[in-house]
Amino acid sequence: MSFPLAATLSPSAYWYLARGTGAVALVLLTVSVVLGILGSVRFTAPRWPRFAIDAVHRDVSLLVLVVLVIHIVTSVLDGFAPIRLFDGVIPFVTPYRPLWMGLGTVAFDLMLAIAITSLVRRRLGYQAWRAVHWLAYASWPVAVLHGLGTGSDVKQWWMLALTAACIVAVLVAVWTRIASTSGEYTGLRAPATALAVVTPIGLAVFTLAGPLQHGWARRAGTPQTLLGAPASSGSPGSASSSTSSAPPPASSGSSSALGGSWGASVNGTVTEGQAPGGAIVDLALQVNGRVRGRLRVRLGGVPIDGGGGLSMTGSQVDLAVAGQPSVLQGRIVSLRGEEFDARVSGAAGTTLDLHAQLQIDTNDNKVTGTLSGAPAGA
Ligand code: HEM
Repeated sequence: MSFPLAATLSPSAYWYLARGTGAVALVLLTVSVVLGILGSVRFTAPRWPRFAIDAVHRDVSLLVLVVLVIHIVTSVLDGFAPIRLFDGVIPFVTPYRPLWMGLGTVAFDLMLAIAITSLVRRRLGYQAWRAVHWLAYASWPVAVLHGLGTGSDVKQWWMLALTAACIVAVLVAVWTRIASTSGEYTGLRAPATALAVVTPIGLAVFTLAGPLQHGWARRAGTPQTLLGAPASSGSPGSASSSTSSAPPPASSGSSSALGGSWGASVNGTVTEGQAPGGAIVDLALQVNGRVRGRLRVRLGGVPIDGGGGLSMTGSQVDLAVAGQPSVLQGRIVSLRGEEFDARVSGAAGTTLDLHAQLQIDTNDNKVTGTLSGAPAGA
């Protein structure tokens, strides 16, 4: 499928967009829920009559759906995790963190149901429409759980602060609404208050005991092939067959990910050019895995007589990792066909040993393969 905005972006840009739209969707959904809760509270401020609040509530809700469509499409296009388009509407069938992704899908489906029933509100009748509309309140905590359970940024202070602010906003709205209830609804005060107390406590306990703990990626249901490789792995393809308890893929980019061993897939292009006395091979690769970024490898060499290969005379390896302040630079230390080992260092004193296993298609100059890394000497 083609998506006009996303089609021009690189895989890691999709990932940033998926994360960004997730955060924006949560904020907008919170605004929509807050306005929905406060809609029936009588305000004294003449600037905010009920019809104005209702109009903003409706427009924000539609905007949430648009942002969510971008969120889902970019999650699929990113390609790092095995997420398919229908995972966006059919919950709990994705092989990637089924429960936590499934909760996002449930929240999205609930919102779709609300949007569709709102379109046919007249035919449906007010009571039936209102019954479905109550599901909006259910979709919000489900979406919060999804973001906490599967988000890459859950360990970042700003994401925690953003989520906490959303929870506080809904709580304040609920309490305002409870305080303004009268007549037959006063009996609802006690259970509503209990729910408003239990929900944030439950979310806080879940976050502390789950996503903020080491090894959450494995417990959350990340497929084994996406978890980082152990330092001892050196066999072909083993970069993605680890049993380690790695943090979530590409967690924050990430400087902490470089502290241990990791595995990633690579893809890109190769170009070969003639140079005085030999040839230069240039590999431009995208790295997608627990570590994300770009790998550039330039090899200088002299053609091997009759062999069609290149005897290496020099090399330059540059690894730019998202979240790292500087590019890690170094050279190839051993080359065996389409497999090589390299050592790269960064300005902050980080030195990594890299192992790449590539498949080069000489027909269309496309390169795919795996890259694993570990602190030098590990
Ligand atoms: C109401 C519905 C939804 C809301 C409010 C929502 C919101 C969020 C939030 C807040 C995050 C965390 C972002 C971060 O850590 O930076 C997130 C992550 C994610 N969401 Fe959703 N989401 C929803 C539905 C969905 C659906 C249906 C899918 C299905 C494809 C999906 C796919 C993802 C993925 C793959 C991530 C992880 C991205 C990352 O690496 O951080 N979401 N979502």
